[in-house]
Amino acid sequence: MTRFADAERFAGSFQRMTERAVEPFDVSETRAAYDTVAVAYEEALRDALAASPWDRAVLGAFADLVGPAAPVVDLGCGPGRITSYLAGLGLDVFGVDLSPGMVEVARRVHPGLRFEVGSMSALTLADASLAGAVAWYSIIHTPPERLRSLFGELARVLRPGGVLALAFQAGDERLRISGGYGHEVSMDAYRLQPEDVVGVLAEEELIVEARLVRQPEPSEKTPQAYLVARKAA
Ligand SMILES: C[S@@+](CC[C@H](N)C(=O)[O-])C[C@H]1O[C@@H](n2cnc3c(N)ncnc32)[C@H](O)[C@@H]1O
Repeated sequence: MTRFADAERFAGSFQRMTERAVEPFDVSETRAAYDTVAVAYEEALRDALAASPWDRAVLGAFADLVGPAAPVVDLGCGPGRITSYLAGLGLDVFGVDLSPGMVEVARRVHPGLRFEVGSMSALTLADASLAGAVAWYSIIHTPPERLRSLFGELARVLRPGGVLALAFQAGDERLRISGGYGHEVSMDAYRLQPEDVVGVLAEEELIVEARLVRQPEPSEKTPQAYLVARKAA
């Protein structure tokens, strides 16, 4: 470990401490937006995984890689559809989401599973406590300049060899979202280039083992990216 890497790691943990103390405005906006759409989002996406073979394939590979190890967290779990799918594959998994509205819906729809309110960029989990983590379309609201700090937090809670799976829309654009699921909302979302994300993950010793970019479905505007990484041993 070089002094420069040490300094960067310190800068990342300082940024996370600052975010805990003073929440960035975009985080408050994202929470409010998902609180507003939580019920409609759950209804709209309830059966989406059944029609998404690539999502199921990547989640299945993730479950195989984690194996019997535990626990696993679904970060930005929303209404818990991915948490529930992973639990069905045999994983000991719980969900964390920024939005209390989403967590309330997740608890109602999946009463046998555990869901908590929290931010994935400042988790209340011990160092090296997780066998795996999934962030399914939930890093998309973090400004790209804060991804390094976010991945530093995920690297902190994953144990060496722990597995991380990400899904996100591929591209370069920053989008201002003013409505969705029948509601008016205000929040930002970012499309990301998979190679850029691979590079930022590597800076936090999260080494990508597999990457997949698929063409958009008719209902989608951009290719969809999936990355599976491991925390360096
Ligand atoms: C597009 S939804 C995806 C939900 C779920 N993963 C799924 O695939 O249905 C994005 C979710 O990420 C959550 N989220 C965004 N930023 C977050 C953060 N920093 N920490 C925790 N959750 C976050 C939002 O509240 C929202 O529920």
